Amino acid sequence: QVLTSGLEASQAVAREIADLIRLRESDGQTCVLGLATGSTPLDVYAELIRMHREEGLSFRNVVTFNLDEYYPMQPTAAQSYVRFMNEQLFDHIDIPAENVHIPDGTISLDDVAAYCDGYEQKIAARGGLDLQLLGIGRAGHIGFNEPGSTLDSRTRLVTLNDVTREDAASAYSGIENVPRQAITMGVGTIMQARRIILLAFGSSKASIVARATEGTVSESVPATFLHHHSNVEFWLDETSAAQL
Ligand code: GLP
Repeated sequence: QVLTSGLEASQAVAREIADLIRLRESDGQTCVLGLATGSTPLDVYAELIRMHREEGLSFRNVVTFNLDEYYPMQPTAAQSYVRFMNEQLFDHIDIPAENVHIPDGTISLDDVAAYCDGYEQKIAARGGLDLQLLGIGRAGHIGFNEPGSTLDSRTRLVTLNDVTREDAASAYSGIENVPRQAITMGVGTIMQARRIILLAFGSSKASIVARATEGTVSESVPATFLHHHSNVEFWLDETSAAQL
């Protein structure tokens, strides 16, 4: 889908999410959402908050799993994805705290592999992801699955590449302060979601959107693995779609 503006696309995606939450609720089911950070989904979260306040959209039966977190990272740090999600969404809606899952950037190195397996098990125990929201990095990463990530990769500790760290540098006042690692859901974890919505807005994403949608499937652009998913949508604005 190509819409004129990112705001218009974000509001439409928020309506899709709200419809899914209501549908699952009417069936007496929880709705399991995979959520993303970064600047791209901000307007989706703002619109969900508006729907909660003005239309009574409830998140009581929503369970969320975030894609990723920097490592190491304290949840209270300015750049933490825990803090980001609280400020941009969770503090403003009625989601039960125990329903929220974000990879823990404080886990010790010795425990991280077991922790990641546990994250996968928690997703499975909830019946898998109904919908995964994604952004895309300039190097083609989804979550923090950098080039070289395999189709069957699972939640794990990864090393961030230079493009990703450069893009994060302003938030950390300099690339030297950007963590070198992160915990991310794997490509395989993401691919098991029943539906995937990838959002990309702005001209800086035009080239990677073209490679991700029209290029051959390859580990060098992990977003191309989405070609193998049967229910995936790219929601774009006119500028991010400019090279299609
Ligand atoms: C980070 C996140 C990704 C996100 C990407 C794009 O790397 N881990 O999940 O898709 O940034 O960020 P932005 O939406 O700010 O362009």
